[in-house]
Amino acid sequence: MARILITSALPYINGIKHLGNLVGSQLPADLYARYMRARGHEVMFICATDEHGTPAEIAAAKANQPVAEYCAEMHGVQSDLARGFGLSFDHFGRSSSARNHALTQHFAKRLGEAGLIEQVSEKQVYSQTDGRFLPDRYIEGTCPNCGYERARGDQCENCTKQLTPLELIEPRSAISGATDLEVRETHHLHLRQSKLRDTLDAWIDSQRGWPVLTTSIAKKWLHDGDGLQDRGITRDLDWGVQVQFDGAPWSGLEGKVFYVWFDAPIEYIAATAEWADAHGKDEAAWRRWWRTDEGADDVRYVQFMGKDNVPFHTLSFPATLIGSGEPWKMVDYIKSFNYLNYDGGQFSTSLGRGVFMDQALEILPGDYWRWWLLSHAPENSDSEFTWENFQASVNKDLADVLGNLVSRVTKFCRSKFGEQVPDGGTTGPREAQLVESLTKRLRAYETHMEAMEVRKSATELRALWVLGNEYLQEAAPWSSFKTDPEQAAAQIRLALNMIRFYAVISKPFIPDASARIMADLGCDDWSWPSDVAAALEHLPAGHGFTVPEVLFAKISDESRSEWEERFSGQR
Ligand code: MF3
Ligand code: ZN
Repeated sequence: MARILITSALPYINGIKHLGNLVGSQLPADLYARYMRARGHEVMFICATDEHGTPAEIAAAKANQPVAEYCAEMHGVQSDLARGFGLSFDHFGRSSSARNHALTQHFAKRLGEAGLIEQVSEKQVYSQTDGRFLPDRYIEGTCPNCGYERARGDQCENCTKQLTPLELIEPRSAISGATDLEVRETHHLHLRQSKLRDTLDAWIDSQRGWPVLTTSIAKKWLHDGDGLQDRGITRDLDWGVQVQFDGAPWSGLEGKVFYVWFDAPIEYIAATAEWADAHGKDEAAWRRWWRTDEGADDVRYVQFMGKDNVPFHTLSFPATLIGSGEPWKMVDYIKSFNYLNYDGGQFSTSLGRGVFMDQALEILPGDYWRWWLLSHAPENSDSEFTWENFQASVNKDLADVLGNLVSRVTKFCRSKFGEQVPDGGTTGPREAQLVESLTKRLRAYETHMEAMEVRKSATELRALWVLGNEYLQEAAPWSSFKTDPEQAAAQIRLALNMIRFYAVISKPFIPDASARIMADLGCDDWSWPSDVAAALEHLPAGHGFTVPEVLFAKISDESRSEWEERFSGQR
């Protein structure tokens, strides 16, 4: 039994996430966590809301709420949605927690003592009307690169160029629209990442088997241009982790907070501490996952994220951990994803384009979405959601292949043998052949799941379902029943066991459907069916069951075009 620490990139608190966000980190992380638990490993699966920074402050202002209240409310909303999609976090924390405040300040202190933080004087835009500095998104103006008039202080959404507020043409405050801006001198902290360049370079080189997408992004930032840049880790905001040491402000930085990208990854650790607190456990309970001197040296740590997050996880966060000089657990494997597009364009939170998590659950249960999203995960390139593809995938894979098999077998059994596993008869060469092919495919499925090959795993699982259908088609117990009821009994006994086999192995993808099947089969033994022959004899003759309700309803053409229409425009 291994110990596996899994983190998903933390969703920003500002609003409900769309399906592209979901499939880029939380959902595949859940698939892996569920699979590893099913194989008997000890898993710690951590996520949280990323609550600081300008996006949170601006969203709260738009909602006309104090930011703390807004974040608390949105955390509740995001937790409920996570539950609706079956995301099985051991803890879903908050980066605004007391634990994260304390840990973030602790890291800053260690980094300062190691000479890795320097105080610099910087020019920043100050708004007289607003009476404050305007960092990042608090300032808007015309993009110097493409002329787009609503570029933000950190980036132009139109041409994607990274910007600083001082580069904007005709800048104005995003809070008040004021243009009476001036440049003022102020103090900030920089993390001297450049001093860690060789250490980080060597650390990345020592990683075995990282995906090319991950290492190429890291290497690019390490070596391109002037190499790894020092970066500002403080901001002029109210909401965030105060720049303080042991309760006393850092002189010259009174009233400032740490930059959101500094404190957010630290929340992976803090959320594990929140988990311990929530379960009345001691410090050692979470430290054994994170401190290599307290047991974490035998933890395997895997992170899931979209590709835009890779630089922060291969360079900035490792710089924080290594720079602290303390024995923190470093990531062992980074699984990163490309983007999911929506029907010929991009999902867009600001434009409300695409399907958002709350809307998805309003129209269909979580499993339908999980299956489509995971089986089309943007692993090797971007992928695209279309309603036509979604309908086809649900109707074929879930309804026709899996759902239909479950319903045919249980209903036939009920009508001929009653609602219990039938007795009598023996299996023959066709069944032996089935066991052999199921075993071969199960091994392939296991290999892909271990390797986090999400699409390949889905393909293999679907192929496993198809094998059962083919068997049933050929064995045709409904005709053998007329000539040889004993043989039909043996076939149906096997088929009922095959349904349990499917419920167990499909659970990482479609947990609710699996749970319903198992409940109707009156079985709560979820042990992994490594030995397929034994698994197909698990439920003994005489074991009672009930016929499940329709597992997966088909999507009609009317529903499809109605949804297509409904989600084409603005949210
Ligand atoms: N909130 C960020 C995003 O959605 C991800 C933060 S991951 C963390 O892009 F590790 F930094 F928390
Ligand atoms: Zn631009």
